[in-house]
Amino acid sequence: MFSSLSVLPTDSVLGLIRLHAEDPNPSKIDLGVGVYRDAAGKSPIMAAVKEAEKRLVSHQRSKTYFGSEGDPEFLASIIPLVFGEARLPAERVVACQAVGGTGALRLAATLAAFASSEPRIWIGVPTWPNHLPVLQSAGLKIQQYSYFDPSTQSVQFELMKEALKQAKPGDLVLLHACCHNPTGADLTPEQWQEVADLLVARKLLPLIDFAYAGFATSLAEDRRGIQTILAQVPEALIAFSCSKTFGLYRERTGALFVLADSSKARAPILSSLQVLARTVYSTPPDHGAAVVRTILNDPELTAGWQGELRQARDRIANLRRELGRYGQVNRINFAALSKQNGMFSLLPLTKDEVVRLRTGYSIYMAESGRINLAGLRTSDMEYFIHSISEVTA
Ligand code: LMR
Repeated sequence: MFSSLSVLPTDSVLGLIRLHAEDPNPSKIDLGVGVYRDAAGKSPIMAAVKEAEKRLVSHQRSKTYFGSEGDPEFLASIIPLVFGEARLPAERVVACQAVGGTGALRLAATLAAFASSEPRIWIGVPTWPNHLPVLQSAGLKIQQYSYFDPSTQSVQFELMKEALKQAKPGDLVLLHACCHNPTGADLTPEQWQEVADLLVARKLLPLIDFAYAGFATSLAEDRRGIQTILAQVPEALIAFSCSKTFGLYRERTGALFVLADSSKARAPILSSLQVLARTVYSTPPDHGAAVVRTILNDPELTAGWQGELRQARDRIANLRRELGRYGQVNRINFAALSKQNGMFSLLPLTKDEVVRLRTGYSIYMAESGRINLAGLRTSDMEYFIHSISEVTA
């Protein structure tokens, strides 16, 4: 049976974890996987999460199953976080807990493939490297739109619109709610509005990946794009991740929200999601979701968690400002980074330069040139810039 298998390429992001761990150099810098790190380079568990876990250990009375759609209390607790005060037509919204944000994307894509005879999705170039395999393996045909030019560090909005004008009614369009991965370059409020108009005019279905809530400007600001889209489109899919926002990475906590065009469509969508989940993992993992609902249902824990999230956001914004001060280093425009959001920026480095940074300087980043800025300790800054200037000289 298995002799037909060959060794596949290592994942471009997760593969870096091992490479970095094996490097004995004490000055090594990990700008790889998208995990928040504090000024000491650590990814500690949030205090609010620790406290919620303590409460769960002492108060949780049962580990019995929820349905395939997960814990209804968890889903109810994150709805305001995802949608804010937007007056959501509750009778048209379906919520389904998922195995992290990736699981939510996969569920969304599987649902679309299940519902459509010719499912296609438009994804930006560049995008998170796992988007393509997740969506494609669920049965969606991939179309691409230009999104960002690393050499000018700017969103190619005109090209994006041109491409989307070629989309067929019923096509999906993948969008990043905030903190675009891998570029850090988000749409402006005006651009979100234009995208919303285009989606409506061409009858396209948005699939919005919302994995960095609270990492750009604020929890309220970071969902503005979603609110603009939802105010106009009849149908939408939103994949929400708790991995970064609550620092729950390996607990695999997320949810898929589907906006249906009528209340009648709700029951078939929910039952389809239940069957799709049941045939892959049956019911989602509970621990992370239980932590999130414990935090969000307690005002004190909520305030503590929001403070910790704000600290993370502020640290990243400071790092962006500090990097921005270096201005132009050879062909890299660090000033542009200060205007971007979230943990990632995409440096216009060649593969060869990325490999030289890794092997010669112990600086780890994705082959695309994506850096997770949060991996920089203050003491790393000079060395990082110096190394970049050497490899790009
Ligand atoms: C990243 O982009 O580094 C994160 O979203 C982690 C992952 O799963 O790739």
